[in-house]
Amino acid sequence: GNSQPWRIVVVDSKACRDRIIASFEAENEAAARQYQSEKASLYRQLKLAGLKEAPVHLAIFSDEDPEQGAGLGRMTMPETLAYSTVSMIHTFWLAARAEGVGVGWVSILDPQQVARTLQVDESWRLVAYLCVGYPEEEHVDPELERVRWQARTPLSSRLFHR
Ligand SMILES: Cc1cc2nc3c(=O)[nH]c(=O)nc-3n(C[C@H](O)[C@H](O)[C@H](O)COP(=O)(O)O)c2cc1C
Repeated sequence: GNSQPWRIVVVDSKACRDRIIASFEAENEAAARQYQSEKASLYRQLKLAGLKEAPVHLAIFSDEDPEQGAGLGRMTMPETLAYSTVSMIHTFWLAARAEGVGVGWVSILDPQQVARTLQVDESWRLVAYLCVGYPEEEHVDPELERVRWQARTPLSSRLFHR
């Protein structure tokens, strides 16, 4: 329905960033406590956000009741609004990488706290909080495999034929 549901908040102010960082630190600590022994200590060594380093912070919301499109195409699958917003993020991510810019998606946040901090409309749902900037390192393989958080699995484990 060409509803263009993405809403992009450029988070510039130190006051807002500080509250986002506090949310990340609280949620990250809560997540760390879900793991035991070796996995817990490895979790605590992971770098799971670049909130303090990234020059640009973008909070991407999806409007769950946009006027644009007048509802066309989303009566059967309203979740397509969020899918549209994710597609926009993916396109942004590819374009950024093509320019040598890095993007980190931070999901270890309380979405309602982020919405309150940024004082957005009630119909906006947080989809992604993005840290954007030039990366300090370039890698081909995922960090979580490099630090042995997870094993590399072949595509065949995710591909099915019927
Ligand atoms: C939906 C989604 C959520 C993510 N959440 C986090 C997160 O909370 N913390 C984190 O360190 N990485 C997270 N990531 C991964 C990073 O965004 C990504 O691996 C990182 O930016 C490195 O970028 P690259 O994969 O282009 O090298 C997430 C990725 C996706 C797709």
